[in-house]
Amino acid sequence: MQTLNTFYTLITGASEGIGKALAEVCAKDHRNLILVALPNVSLENTVTELKQQFPQIKVEPIGLDLTNQDAAQQVYQTCQENNWQINTLIHNAGFGSAGEFEKYSMSFYEKMIQLHCTFTVALTYYFLPDLKKLQQGAQIVHVSSAAAFTDTPYKLVYSTTKKFILHFARVLQEELRKTKIKVSIVCPPGVATSAAVLERTEDAGWIAQRLILTPQQTAQSILKGIHRKQLLILPGFVGKLFYVLSLITTRGFQRRVLGSIFRGKKKREEERQLRLKEKERKAQAKLMAKNNEIHHS
Ligand SMILES: NC(=O)c1ccc[n+]([C@@H]2O[C@H](COP(=O)([O-])OP(=O)(O)OC[C@H]3O[C@@H](n4cnc5c(N)ncnc54)[C@H](OP(=O)(O)O)[C@@H]3O)[C@@H](O)[C@H]2O)c1
Repeated sequence: MQTLNTFYTLITGASEGIGKALAEVCAKDHRNLILVALPNVSLENTVTELKQQFPQIKVEPIGLDLTNQDAAQQVYQTCQENNWQINTLIHNAGFGSAGEFEKYSMSFYEKMIQLHCTFTVALTYYFLPDLKKLQQGAQIVHVSSAAAFTDTPYKLVYSTTKKFILHFARVLQEELRKTKIKVSIVCPPGVATSAAVLERTEDAGWIAQRLILTPQQTAQSILKGIHRKQLLILPGFVGKLFYVLSLITTRGFQRRVLGSIFRGKKKREEERQLRLKEKERKAQAKLMAKNNEIHHS
């Protein structure tokens, strides 16, 4: 079937994980695609696979490090030069972290802030005037995280940047209320996208392991939310549960519970051993005090 759709859906971080699964469901939805990711074999493979599987749609790659200072401008210019008209902009590229704040280098955090915050703002900034002109309407989708709703220890900078995205998108929607642009914010819980995520989930313990979604489940939920033009897209039952819990619990409770989960198995075990030693030391001291008492009486 030949698609009559001349517009494109642009997805950042589309070579792996949620972005790749999203590209697949969008292709099934007969959307032409622009896939943006680091210029490597993973992007090339995704583009080749999709072109073979869905010959009726157009699939174009933009290989670029989105943490480069002028990345957003470069993405916009590439689309302009090729006359690719975008009506759906999906900000998905991102990466996570787990562990104590000092575990990562400052340059790691600078890249995270650049990609999650600066690039997100800049890409929206460059595309917005064109999106506003579309008579048929347009959509901007921001992939944030369930970690944006809560105080999340051991994901400190990550959750802070995801809160930035949540706030930016929510307020942007209000500014665009009178236009034909709809903004959506996706807040997934844990999604089994890579070995690193699986390792972090395994370390977080059995609760996290049971609550993890697949990239395909997540992508299906996102597409459904895009069709419904939902402001807040909460993938899976777990995503919704996490949101409700974030509303009905106090920040202090969240910090304690999530802190305990994300501190990781190894740290929790170390702390348990320390508590046991302390208990033993106190019991010994008590026993000695009692023996001394008997001895002196
Ligand atoms: N997985 C989860 O548990 C989870 C939960 C909540 C929210 N999220 C959010 O969902 C989004 C996708 O996460 P994911 O787990 O699917 O990630 P992923 O599997 O690691 O894939 C990340 C994608 O972003 C691209 N990317 C990363 N850094 C880039 C850069 N500097 N320039 C260009 N492209 C870059 C990667 O390209 P390469 O393949 O070339 O590296 C890849 O296509 C992120 O925003 C993440 O924060 C994830």
